[in-house]
Amino acid sequence: MRKKIVAGNWKMNKTLQEGIALAEELNQVLAADKPNCDVVIGTPFIHLAKISDIIDHKVIGLSAENCADKESGAYTGEVSAAMVKSTGAEYVILGHSERREYYHETYEILKEKVLLALANGLKVIFCIGESLDEREKGIQNQIVKAELEGSVFNLSADEFKNITIAYEPIWAIGTGKTATADQAEEIHAYIRSVIADKYGKQIAEDTSILYGGSCKPSNAGELFAKPDIDGGLIGGASLKVADFKGIIDAWKK
Ligand code: PGA
Repeated sequence: MRKKIVAGNWKMNKTLQEGIALAEELNQVLAADKPNCDVVIGTPFIHLAKISDIIDHKVIGLSAENCADKESGAYTGEVSAAMVKSTGAEYVILGHSERREYYHETYEILKEKVLLALANGLKVIFCIGESLDEREKGIQNQIVKAELEGSVFNLSADEFKNITIAYEPIWAIGTGKTATADQAEEIHAYIRSVIADKYGKQIAEDTSILYGGSCKPSNAGELFAKPDIDGGLIGGASLKVADFKGIIDAWKK
């Protein structure tokens, strides 16, 4: 059975003190009212070690939002997968469209990052998704397939079991414009079929595919009710405990 997951992606938000306060509050709220899905928070690097000590890892998983494409050495300013792992984090988000677009992360670079993350015992939340222009041209399926083939389909079946996919249409990220549940389901089912073609039906069935892009408490229930949507990767709404909890609770309905 695949996991239901609600993962937060804080992006470049929250000072260390604000991040600690947010994690503490979430930890308390989820201790009082246990989620019935896996919960993960993706935070900036500087928060990881402190937050790792605060949260109950049985309830909340911890994720970085990136890691280096090199193992170690003279790469000023970079943070390696081994360093991420040493903080107590269990996950890393890779391939986010903001990293692809603003930091020019190519399929090849992401392939290296994924390999290093897995080699260091991290699970990967791997983001894929098309732009508005690509959606309007009707080539969204080709885009997500190419993103998978370019960076994760080199993995063995055993390695691929540590990958969670996050489908995030770029036109829906931070725009308030959500894909409809039907639109999301259609492409999630397609993504699962592509994984089945590559790794077989069982692995495809066991792979969690999250939806991301303006997911909020008011639309999470409808999205998560779809058979191929296994949760969400949440940006803006992960920055407030009430909103994030509202999305987590969508799994209780
Ligand atoms: P959003 O971001 O929820 O703010 O649209 C989602 C994401 O980019 O992960």
